[in-house]
Formats: sequence, structure tokens, C-alpha cells
Amino acid sequence: MKLDNARVYRFRKYIFSWWRTHRRDLPWRHTNDPYKIFVSEVMLQQTQVSRVVPKYREFLNRFPSLAALAQATPAQVLRAWKGMGYNRRALYLQKAAKVIVEEHQGNFPISEQELIVLPGLGKYTARAILVFAYHQEVQLVDTNIRQIITHFFFKDQPQKESAVEEVARQLVPPGKSWEWHQALMDYNAIAMSKFKTQMLKVKKKTIPFRESNRFFRGRIIDRLREGDILESKLIRELEKKYAKPAVFLRSIVESLIRDGLIQRAPRGVLRLPGV
Ligand code: ADE
Repeated sequence: MKLDNARVYRFRKYIFSWWRTHRRDLPWRHTNDPYKIFVSEVMLQQTQVSRVVPKYREFLNRFPSLAALAQATPAQVLRAWKGMGYNRRALYLQKAAKVIVEEHQGNFPISEQELIVLPGLGKYTARAILVFAYHQEVQLVDTNIRQIITHFFFKDQPQKESAVEEVARQLVPPGKSWEWHQALMDYNAIAMSKFKTQMLKVKKKTIPFRESNRFFRGRIIDRLREGDILESKLIRELEKKYAKPAVFLRSIVESLIRDGLIQRAPRGVLRLPGV
């Protein structure tokens, strides 16, 4: 869809004038360091801003540079990730840091093609680094921005990715890509709620979190953060605590091993992954 210029200017003006009085001061907006931007974006992928802010600071104190993160063991990174959930993100971060140190001499890649092949990076995260660290003029589309575009340009009707991208591309203001995308993030978080009642109605029913595999995956990792444990003991503890059958709990353990989040050590011991 080709937007006419007047509409583009009007929309940019609307967002920027809203932003003048509503912009949030977030810690990752005070840096252009691609490593720090990367950490913030991975944290923000599935977690609310208010929970990310303290963890972001804590994580960067623990791993202040790409080199520090690359040298850490996965177990150390998983411990620093405590309280964030979706623990696989921590492993990806660490793997990506290793790849950058080993294959890019520790210099953060500056092209989308090189970024996108790093572990755990999709098109969105690669572009978030281009925009928020390097101020490049590419369009960034995540859930937040997609919601804004489908609301204002497609009357809330879901669109294929390419249609949303095409509108997003035309909206990026020359020389102000960084500000534009930060403003859209804030707009969605703060101002879109009044339009969202409609969207929530069509949201699919989900099973309660405490019944989900993700909940049990999180509890097992939490237990291993405290130290290694015999698999049989862990299963007994969880059976008692959550009244879940051992076969189910064992299948969760297996899935964590498959994903590289935990390891079986000799003599039936489970532990967080070493190097
Ligand atoms: N979500 C993803 N990136 C963000 C950012 N830079 N600010 C706020 N929320 C975000």
C-alpha cells in the first residue's frame, strides 16, 4: 500500500507530538553500545519493561562486556537470568557473544545479514540493533509496532507481514529512525491500551500458567540454580509439591536436556550446563 505524503507527515507528527510529553526514560536509551542494546532487546522479547529494567542493570554489572559474557559458562548466565523466564534466551545470548568473539574478533557485526545468523537473533532483533545502536534508517516491526500499524492503517484487520513492513518502511522519518521507533514502543505501551479491548476479545483461550510445560521447566531450572541434584530426588520433590505424575515430570526434564538448558552428569545427577 502506497501512502500519500500528507498522510505520512500527519502520522509522524501525531506520534512525535504525543511523545514529547510521554516519552519514557529507559536505561538502554542512554547507550549506543550494540552489546547493551542486544541484551536489552533479548530481555524485552517476552518480558515487560518494568521487570526488565532492574534485570538489565544487574546483568550488565555481572557481564559488563561482550568479552565477559563470552567467557562465562552457560550455568553462570542462567543464574544471572533468574526471575526472567524463557531461559533459552540466556543461552542464545551467551552463544551469540561467543560467536562474535570467535568469528568477528569481538566486534559487533554491523550488517543485517551478519546479525541475523547469530544464535537467537531473528529479523526483529537484528534490526533493533541497526536502529537503536547504529541509528540506521530501516523499519522495525515487532508486536508493538505491528499493532499500531494494523490499527491506524488497516482498521485492526490482521495483515500479512509484507503489507505491514511496507507501511512501516514508508513511515520511518529520515534522520530520526532511533527516535521514531522508541516513540512507537512507548505509544503502544501507553496509548494503545484504549484501543486494545477490541483486540483482547479475540485472544485465544490459554491454559493457566501453572499447568503449562513452561511453568515446570522454570521450576526445574530454578531448583538447579541452587545447585546440582539427583534426578530421582528432583522428581520426588516436584511430584510431592505439585501433585504431577513422574512420567510427566521426566518428560519435562528430557525436553530441557534436549534444549541444552540442563545436563545429565554422571551418577544420575542433573546440573546446569558447563562449557
Ligand atoms: N521493546 C523492545 N524494544 C524496546 C525499547 N527500545 N523500548 C521499549 N520497549 C521495547
